[in-house]
Amino acid sequence: MLLWLQKYRPRTISEIVGNTNAVNQFADWVSKRLKDNVKKAALLYGPPGVGKSLTVQVYAEQFGFDLIELNASDVRAKEQIMRIAGTAASQSTIFGGIKRLVFLDEIDGINPAEDKGCIPAIIDIINKSNCPVVLAANDPWDPKLRPIRDLCILIRYNKIRSPTIIKFLKEICRKEGIVVEDRALTLIAEKADGDLRSAIIDLQVLTEGRRYLRFEDVIWLPTRNRQYGVFDVLKELFWSKTALQARLVMEKSLIDHETLKLWIHENLPLVYSDLSDLVRAYDMLSKADVFFGRMNKTQNWDLLPYALEFMTAGVVLGVKKKPEFVKYQFPQKLLLISLTRNSRKIRDETLSALSEKCKLSRRKALTEVFPYLKVIAEENSSIGRRIGEWLNLSEDHLKYLGLKTSKPKKT
Ligand SMILES: Nc1ncnc2c1ncn2[C@@H]1O[C@H](COP(=O)(O)OP(=O)(O)OP(=O)(O)O)[C@@H](O)[C@H]1O
Ligand SMILES: [Mg+2]
Repeated sequence: MLLWLQKYRPRTISEIVGNTNAVNQFADWVSKRLKDNVKKAALLYGPPGVGKSLTVQVYAEQFGFDLIELNASDVRAKEQIMRIAGTAASQSTIFGGIKRLVFLDEIDGINPAEDKGCIPAIIDIINKSNCPVVLAANDPWDPKLRPIRDLCILIRYNKIRSPTIIKFLKEICRKEGIVVEDRALTLIAEKADGDLRSAIIDLQVLTEGRRYLRFEDVIWLPTRNRQYGVFDVLKELFWSKTALQARLVMEKSLIDHETLKLWIHENLPLVYSDLSDLVRAYDMLSKADVFFGRMNKTQNWDLLPYALEFMTAGVVLGVKKKPEFVKYQFPQKLLLISLTRNSRKIRDETLSALSEKCKLSRRKALTEVFPYLKVIAEENSSIGRRIGEWLNLSEDHLKYLGLKTSKPKKT
């Protein structure tokens, strides 16, 4: 059975439907990149099944590029990425007369803990590469991707609109000689929720072995359970018209409540230009925060619906002025947390050692002993070192405490 995804796959970039801006932006960037006056890498991002990988592959075929393509979520990806980092990318742009393009797909699938060195290797590829480097991801806002993101131009892909999906499916039906009710196609498109790939697959599966498709044949098709990226969640939330709509956004999202709260907090001033709207929204968010706080303290989960109601419906309903279309910002607090992760880890380990040795609670260790320990370590390195040894602290911990000299070498 020939898959319709392959049979009806565009052959040129102009045949790619929807996301015209993104496709043009990508093509423009590659030509500029070859003249060397733009950022070295491009990151295509957006929901699944909308033509990100397709754009890169079709572009390479159409314009005769040698495509070096790796899927970063593949189990063997790490080795391959490391190999490319050392070789292909740093060779010349034109190899045997053929232009090269390096494509690292699904980079949000990298697990930094398991694939140690992968992210630095990608950064290396971007920095050293003579040829254009293209990356793709569904969710580019993952903190682990930040160092990569900073090196890239970001090209956003959106969900494909329903009418565009319907038109594409209709054309397939015409070519396949299948008689189809418009309502059936509308329903397939609706359930696909902007994902053209799944719409095409659904159409093929539903019409397998028959020449017609009715509305009734489609009803049982499950709605795709989309994992919304944070941008989609925020957009849908701020533009919700009813309390129910605002609440349902939460259910489509896989982002945890606390993180979403930080995103809303960060972006409210960008979205609401009217001062009274902003005051009201922050007031609601602060009420949500009170409920979250009590819930965490008392472990009474019955409070969660109230917190969520304030955070979603409360924040977005009753605004006087329409929200602005903006590029949402990453919460500064999360950024800070990820930047200071290492020093917090060292501090926590020091506190654990202190509380264990001195039989103190960690809180007491932090407020009553830790400050003195820091002063001692900074002022008198030999006593600081002795205490450190007693606590079994490593050189990193001692440095964190402010100890200036390093361990005396044994002769
Ligand atoms: N915009 C489009 N125009 C025409 N066909 C498309 C489009 N988007 C997707 N398709 C079809 O769906 C297939 C899969 O699309 P593609 O691999 O580009 O999705 P993607 O955006 O990279 O998704 P993912 O995030 O899951 O990797 C394509 O090979 C093509 O057959
Ligand atoms: Mg893809």
